[in-house]
Amino acid sequence: MLILGKEVAAKTLEKITENTIEFEKKYSRKPTLAVIIVGDDPASQTYVKNKINGCKQVGFNSLSYEYENGTPEDEIVAKIKELADDRNVDGILVQLPLPKGYNEQRILANIPDSKDVDGFNASNIGCLCLNRPRTVSCTPLGVMHMLESTGIDLAGKNAVVLGRSNTVGKPMAMLLLNANCTVTVCHSKTVNMSQFTKNADILVVAIGKPKFVTADMVKDGAIVIDVGINRVDGKLCGDVDFENVEKKASYISPVPGGVGPMTISMLLYNTLMSAIARENEQ
Ligand SMILES: NC(=O)c1ccc[n+]([C@@H]2O[C@H](COP(=O)([O-])OP(=O)(O)OC[C@H]3O[C@@H](n4cnc5c(N)ncnc54)[C@H](OP(=O)(O)O)[C@@H]3O)[C@@H](O)[C@H]2O)c1
Repeated sequence: MLILGKEVAAKTLEKITENTIEFEKKYSRKPTLAVIIVGDDPASQTYVKNKINGCKQVGFNSLSYEYENGTPEDEIVAKIKELADDRNVDGILVQLPLPKGYNEQRILANIPDSKDVDGFNASNIGCLCLNRPRTVSCTPLGVMHMLESTGIDLAGKNAVVLGRSNTVGKPMAMLLLNANCTVTVCHSKTVNMSQFTKNADILVVAIGKPKFVTADMVKDGAIVIDVGINRVDGKLCGDVDFENVEKKASYISPVPGGVGPMTISMLLYNTLMSAIARENEQ
């Protein structure tokens, strides 16, 4: 069966829209997301455009700041600090990856935890590791919503995550561990990866290699979530050989229409949560 992220995301967006109307009535302002993009990478520009459109769709304000590649890091940091002090801004997002030469960690460290709607800050990641999640990284959070949409109890399942990036693989593994799965993380130095993937009840793939996971690597009846976004001959495809793996999997997410729409809906969810939390603090 297909797990269609776009359908799960549509339901989330409906709820966010309803809650945004309530928020505006109560606080006489809209939740506001500020997005910073550096350079002219076409994929990043598309992602930013989709995030801004998402804001419009649910009734948020959005602010976007575009910087040329080569803009001094201090100028970007100064803008983040200004947004951090602006009481009408609820979320600050720096579109990653930044062009080569920028110190991503130094730049991101200037986003206050309460406005880190991407959930990338060390303290938000630390809270996730302690199983006291605050703001959780949008893509892995979206994957959890997709898994929950199957209604299958995750406790005790063997979950294998391919990829260990700070933004996807690691928080994904933590979320699955917090959901009582037995978790294995594979990466580029993993030897004989199939021995792990063949044992996976849940397989989440986030490596950025088109059609890397083939049917012989997958257990019969596994749930397969494909996070990968690759462009081959002008067409989007995931990290999973969808056509063949679909025949073995009990559930599988397609690309496009799978994890991608979930990521944006979770970003908007995190922004709304941040807006509500900040109003409650005042
Ligand atoms: N759908 C969405 O909304 C969404 C959001 C974010 C990312 N993505 C997509 O998800 C994919 C992964 O993104 P990312 O940001 O996590 O990428 P990343 O930072 O490049 O990390 C890739 C990870 O995959 C591992 N890897 C690379 N080649 C491998 C191989 N041959 N075998 C095993 N592991 C391998 C790397 O291992 P090492 O650590 O050993 O180098 C690394 O941990 C990309 O296609 C990206 O476009 C999609």
